[in-house]
Amino acid sequence: MQITPSILNADLARLADEVGRISHADMVHIDVMDGHFVPNLTLGLPVVESLLRHTALPLDLHLMIEEPDRWAPGYAEAGASSVTFHIEAAKAPVRLARELRRLGARSCAALNPATPVESVADILDELDMVLLMTVEPGFGGQPFLDLVLPKIRRARQLMGARDIRLQVDGGVSLETIDRCAEAGADVFVAGSAVYRAEDCNAMVDALRERALAACTH
Ligand code: DX5
Ligand code: ZN
Repeated sequence: MQITPSILNADLARLADEVGRISHADMVHIDVMDGHFVPNLTLGLPVVESLLRHTALPLDLHLMIEEPDRWAPGYAEAGASSVTFHIEAAKAPVRLARELRRLGARSCAALNPATPVESVADILDELDMVLLMTVEPGFGGQPFLDLVLPKIRRARQLMGARDIRLQVDGGVSLETIDRCAEAGADVFVAGSAVYRAEDCNAMVDALRERALAACTH
């Protein structure tokens, strides 16, 4: 059970300090948005390169961008531990996943709420993690979409005995994390839940505990 807080709702002008508040996290989830794939614009490679010099935590890059085939490898090259591209945007997902692994990153495909999990069924061996969006991507602080729960179950079934992580992202909090864990997720992005808490590390611990308690697989 891994907790990967999203810094989207942190104070981005003090990014290194904000990441320092989540030392109990397993990875730092960084949301890259390009204003095209999603209607929001955040940060890009230069900021990620700088952040890598200020934290020992592994970086989990979530690229909500057009043309991931062109841009995603740069994040792997920079030293991101995990690079997630959206399956809706990738032109050659197999080639891209292999390239990410060749560059030393874990390769991960993300699916929007309406994208069927079957869209990655035939490329699971190329992936280290599948990310299921539990909100429409673009903004932090949106309510969790329960309609994704059956998809989490289907994804877990499809993965079978493979060593693949299943990440959920959007609206994950103490109120919703047990439903996700019970359905089969094992990596949890939490943005506003962590950064709205007074003690971010205590919230990370509480979320992990709640997920562990709910885990049935
Ligand atoms: C949404 C982003 C999420 C977001 C999560 O498009 O991908 O990572 O920051 O934030 P919360 O946990 O507030 O929904
Ligand atoms: Zn994200």
